[in-house]
Parts: sequence; structure tokens; C-alpha cells
Amino acid sequence: MKKRLLTKVQGMVRVSLPFYLLTLLPLVGCTSADKVTRTIDQEEILSKLSLEDKAHFVIGTGMAGFSGDDAVIGATRSIVPGAAGTTFPLDSLGIPAVVLADGPAGLRIDATREGDSATYYCTHFPIGTLLASTWNTQLVEEVGQAIGEEVKEYGADVLLAPAINIMRNPLCGRNFEYYSEDPVVAGWTAAAYIRGVQKNDVGTSIKHFAANNQETNRMNTDAHISQRALREIYLKGFEIAIKESKPWTVMTSYNYINGIYTSESKDLVTTILRDEWGYEGTVMTDWFGGKDGAKQMWAGNDMLQPGKAEQFDSIVTAVKSGKLAEADLDRSVQRILNLVERSPRYQGYQYSNKPDLKAHAAVTRTSAAEGMVLMKNEQALPFGKQIKNVALYGCTSYDFIAGGTGSGNVNHAYVVSLLDGLKNGGYTVSDELKTTYEQYIAACKAAREKELAEMAKKDKQAAMLASFMPGTLPAEKLFTADELTAQASVADVALITIGRISGEFLDRKQADFNLNESEQKLIQQVCDVYHKAGKQVVVLLNIGGVIETATWKELPDAILCAWQAGQEGGNSVVDVLSGKLSPSGKFTMTWPVKFTDAYSSRNFPIDQDPRIDMMNQGQKGNVKNVDYTDYEENIYIGYRYFDSFDVPVSYPFGFGLSYTTFEYSDARIAQKDDAYEVSVTVKNTGAHEGKEVVELYISAPDNKAADKPTKELKAYAKTRQLKPGESETLTLTVKAADLASFDETASAWVVAAGEYQFLVGASSQDIRATLTAEAKAQQTKVNNVLKPQVQMNLLKR
Ligand code: BGC
Repeated sequence: MKKRLLTKVQGMVRVSLPFYLLTLLPLVGCTSADKVTRTIDQEEILSKLSLEDKAHFVIGTGMAGFSGDDAVIGATRSIVPGAAGTTFPLDSLGIPAVVLADGPAGLRIDATREGDSATYYCTHFPIGTLLASTWNTQLVEEVGQAIGEEVKEYGADVLLAPAINIMRNPLCGRNFEYYSEDPVVAGWTAAAYIRGVQKNDVGTSIKHFAANNQETNRMNTDAHISQRALREIYLKGFEIAIKESKPWTVMTSYNYINGIYTSESKDLVTTILRDEWGYEGTVMTDWFGGKDGAKQMWAGNDMLQPGKAEQFDSIVTAVKSGKLAEADLDRSVQRILNLVERSPRYQGYQYSNKPDLKAHAAVTRTSAAEGMVLMKNEQALPFGKQIKNVALYGCTSYDFIAGGTGSGNVNHAYVVSLLDGLKNGGYTVSDELKTTYEQYIAACKAAREKELAEMAKKDKQAAMLASFMPGTLPAEKLFTADELTAQASVADVALITIGRISGEFLDRKQADFNLNESEQKLIQQVCDVYHKAGKQVVVLLNIGGVIETATWKELPDAILCAWQAGQEGGNSVVDVLSGKLSPSGKFTMTWPVKFTDAYSSRNFPIDQDPRIDMMNQGQKGNVKNVDYTDYEENIYIGYRYFDSFDVPVSYPFGFGLSYTTFEYSDARIAQKDDAYEVSVTVKNTGAHEGKEVVELYISAPDNKAADKPTKELKAYAKTRQLKPGESETLTLTVKAADLASFDETASAWVVAAGEYQFLVGASSQDIRATLTAEAKAQQTKVNNVLKPQVQMNLLKR
């Protein structure tokens, strides 16, 4: 039996296809057991396992469909069809396989199952970027709780989320899943999400640990990062969330950091994660991540998902030859047993396959509205009573984008388009425009299908890749001046949606950052004609990442960034346009004027072939920004760069308007024990209800000479819904230790003594109050690990 299993594991590595497409598993049945509290006698289990059993147990069960019918080991392929993987079952010992499924915008499993008329749709919640843009940790926790209920009721045990890599560059293809360019926003949002999901007694997997900041060649690229940037930026968000919310699992990333695969790095996975941060859960690889199984075990990466034959061989051989202590393997086996023990499946939870999808649709609708960012508003929004008839432009208005592609996608039952959202909100939309667009979109889709079919004849793999990679959206339909004039004569307002889609495996191109010619013309022409007719124009952004705005933002009367707002998107947008809800989202990243203004753009894979990863076949090359990337901007990411080097931006970090206005007053600071408490009173001084986000930055003494950013976010808070004239006093706390910067020479977090400024802001460039307080010198030594092996020309102030 053991031998058969091994053969099948070896068979798995033959084909290298993207796995998430290949999870269409047939349903055999659902496991359910009595709901009892059960513990696992780890000693006993361990005593019964051979070396081979242990090696199987730590490498998962393979991936259904990954290499043909023969590829899947064990009987677990059909527990929850469409889930990304499972742990390895030890049936004779009563240890079930527990189910691991993506995340993060909802649970990703198959919606339908062969021979089963029931459906298993999951709620498509807003993308991570939108959730973070709410700056409302309570709300993020509620969303997490709703997602966790679907995880539990559909029989999964661990959600492979949240994804919290830093948005190092605007073009990273997976930025839509991520939260921010700032580690405090990323860490706090992740902590809230994890708390929410895990309230259901299911697990999470915070990912991708760490520095997975580009998709190009993601399985082989080496991130060259200074120890300081690692500690202050790329690890910090993980540190915050892991210490605060204790995710059941951590997923290591694909990339190398300073020459070592993260999953093979003892410094990262044991020294920092466990010894320094006290993490006690299970660590797993990203799917097929890393190479050397024995090294991964030695490093403390407990579980290798979904398992590769060479990893099995490497572990067994290394133990036999004494290179890997069996005790190291046992320790990982035990950590996986811990995970199994706390899983709903082991605890015999009887899942219903009937989560409350209706309630969750309401959760996604309101949470999405709260993360939308009002970028400009010249008395165009909210729509007044006179607005009844809306002229709807832009293909995406009719074909709304709920989220990004890849493992972060969700198999949703429906997506409310902007067209439907407007109708649901009681607005009239021109039927003529609707028909024109529907025909145009259908023709574009047919042309695309034809193109793919032609491609498939020549290169099957290229066609398959093209079919699931984020597609190019059709060029915008343009109208003649006469057509526009006629449309404007019957409409009360024009709404133009600009869409963008991105996803896993592929970084965005520069052309995707900029508006294309048809989009520029559409905005220009609609604005010209409607303004002449005395009508206003609103631009809506249905996007997953930052785009260029500086060249066109003067044209429309209002701009609303709706992000990719999940399956209720159209309804959420209309809740904001109509004024039912006042927008209160703020940007968690900077919007540069030009893409090249971000310093990291000098060291980022620009416009590379998407197949470079597969073409490389795991070989480490030496092409700059593909095989390795020098993080020369050091800690100067996002606003830390733009604000410290006075580089103009289109929209600053932390920016977002409201339908109302807020006045900040009575800002005070108090020093308590080892912390600073800053309080400020926020008053709604406008005519609408609304919520306000208050951001607290610190500015270190002599920051320029000390090569520190002019300001760094340390805390934030959001008011409750304030009626006109109402006030709320918010209190924000910063621990004295959080004033520290990382000193590489001392290998320590160091707080320099002196006077710190505490800046209370409505954005990073809209500081409303400046307070000061003294700090005493402090130093906390940590391990001198993860040192770059190369010299870099690091940016300094
Ligand atoms: C992604 C992970 C995901 C995993 C399982 C990988 O390609 O990077 O984020 O959780 O697949 O689907």
C-alpha cells in the first residue's frame, strides 16, 4: 500500500499546469461525525507511524487533476470539491484529512458537483484592498465572521487567507488581494479578518510569508531586501497580525528572500516566526512552493502542499542518512496533528452545506459601500431628487467586475452590475444605450473566443493560459458627437465606468496602469457634450489596483473608486451614489502621478512575458527584476517615499472624501506607562451623516539625518456614523516600543531619545493637529538573520 502511494506521488510531478483550475472534483459524499470534543494522543499516533508514513503525512495529498487521473493520492479528493487541498489522512488511526480552501474574498470551492442538483455557491465579498480601505476593523471582523461561516458550513477547515503582502509597486498582479503599502494597515486589517473567520472555530492561513511582491517568476525570484526593510515593512504586518490574532496556520511564499526559499529558511520560519514572535501554529508552503523537502522540514515549514514526489524522497533519504533529525520531522507531524485536532472535521461538526447566503449578501453589500473612496466631488454626488435618468457608459458598467482572478476568485451565484444596481435603486437607464452596449460586449466576447480557438490550434498551453489569466477588457465603445448629444438630451447625468481586471500569475502592464486611448476619448467626449448640455458626469472605477488619474481627473464632476466590490457591487455603488450611505473609505496606498514616480518601479518586472515562470522550469537565472529584484527603495515604500522626498502624487495615502465635512479639535496627548494616548474630537460640520477615519502618524526627531521617513502611520480609528453637528472623541494608542526603527548594526529595534511629533491627519498630506512628546531611548535586540548576500544601492534621505 505504502509503495503504491509513493508511486502515485511520484506521478504527480509530470505536468505543470496551474492547479487552481484543476480542482473540479466529483462529489462522493460528505464526512460528518458526532459533535464531540475529541483530543488526539500524539505520542500514540507517532509511535505507530513509520518514517514513510510521517513523510506522507507532512506532504499533503496532491492535487486533484494536477497530473491526470492517477495523480491524486488517498481518498480525499472528493471531500469538498474545488477546495485547494487537504492534509494527509491516516484513516486506520482515525486521523481524517482536513480541508484547505482559498480565500480571501470568500470561500473558493466548486459551485456545482457532478450528479448533484444542489449548488454550493459562496458569497463573493469585496476584494482585500476594498476591505482595508474601510479602515474599519470591526467591519472587517464581521466580514471575516461571515466568510468563516461559509467555510464551516461547506465542510472546509482552514481558509487560505488573508493575503497581506505589502503593495510594493502599483503593478503587482495580486495587489487586489492585499491590503496596503503600509504594514500597520495590513497588520490591523489582517488581525481583524482572522479574528472574524476563526470565531467560527475554523482556521486561517495568513499568506504569503513573506515578500511575495511580484507575480512574475514568482516561484523562482529572489527578493533582495535589507534587514531593515524586512523588519520595518515586509515582516511587520505579519508580526502584528500573528501576535494579535494567532492564525491557525501561516503559508510561506514562493520566492526566495536573500538567496533562500522562504519555505526553506529556518531564520524566517523558526527564528523569527516562532522564537521571536512566539507563533505556535502550523506552517505550510504555498502550492508546490520551495524545492528541498528535507530542508523545509529542518526549517520548520511543517506541511508541504500539495506535495511533490521529490519532497517525499528528500525527507526519507535525509532522515535515513542522518541529515535530518527524525525529531524535526516528528515536531512537524505533531503540529499538523494539532491542526487536525482543532478542526471542525475532527471534532465531528455536522456541516449543513447551507450557509446563510442571504445574510451574507447583506454583509457584502454594506461592507463594500464602506470601502469605496470618493476621490472628487463637485456637487455631483449624492444624486439629488432631480436625477432619475442615468446614461450609463463604459463596458464594465454592464459587466461589473466582482473581484480578481486566480485562487482569489470566488464561484459566486451572481454579480449585480451597475445597470442592475441602478434599476434596483429606482433609476431609469437608457434602453438604447443598454442594447448598444450589450451587442458590443457580446461581439467583443465572441471575437475573443475566436482568437482563443485560433491560438489553441497553434499552441494549446498558450491558449489555456490566456483563457484563465486576467483577460484584456474590450476597447471602449465610442459615440459620435450627435449620438452623445441625443443621449445627453434625455439623461439627467452620465456615469462612466472604467474597469480593470488582474490576478494571480501575472503582473499588470504599464498599459494597464494608464488609460487606453478609447477610455481617454470616452471620458473626454462624454464630459464635453454633457457639460455643454449643463449635465454632470461621474466616473466610477471598478478596479483592483491603482491607475493613472492625473491626466483626466479634472474632466468629470465626481470620481468614485468602487474597487472590485464583490457580488453585490452594483447595489453597493448605488447605495453610495444615491446617498443612502456616505462614502467613508480612504486609500491605503498612494496614487502616483506616473507609474515611474514610485521608486520601486526602477526595480520591478515591467511588461514581462507571463509565461516566464513556467519557461524557467524552476531554474535560477540572473535576469534583473525577473530572477532577482533589488529592493533599492529600502524602507521608502509608498508615502514613506513620496512624502519624504517631496514627490507630487495624484492622491495621497489615507485620502478619501465624504459627502459631509469634519472638523478636528481638542487634540491631546498623554503619556501612560509605556504608551502614548492621543485623543481628538471629530465633529460632523456638514449636512450629511458620515464616518471619518483619523490617522495618527509619528515623526521621529532629526528624521532626515537619521534616514527615517518624515512620517509613519502608527495607529488609526474610525468614528461611528455621525449626524450633522454630532461629535465623537477618538483615542488612539501608540506603544513606546512602536516608535522604534530597525538598526542593522545593533540588530535591534531602537527608539532614539528625543521629541517625537504625533501628527493627527485626515490623510498623510492633510495633517490637522501636531502634538509632541518625549521618548526615552530603548533598545530591543533581535536575531541577526536574513542578511542580503549582495550589495545594493539603497535609497537614503
Ligand atoms: C496561491 C495561494 C493559494 C494556493 C492554493 C497558490 O497559487 O499563491 O495564495 O492559497 O495557490 O490555491
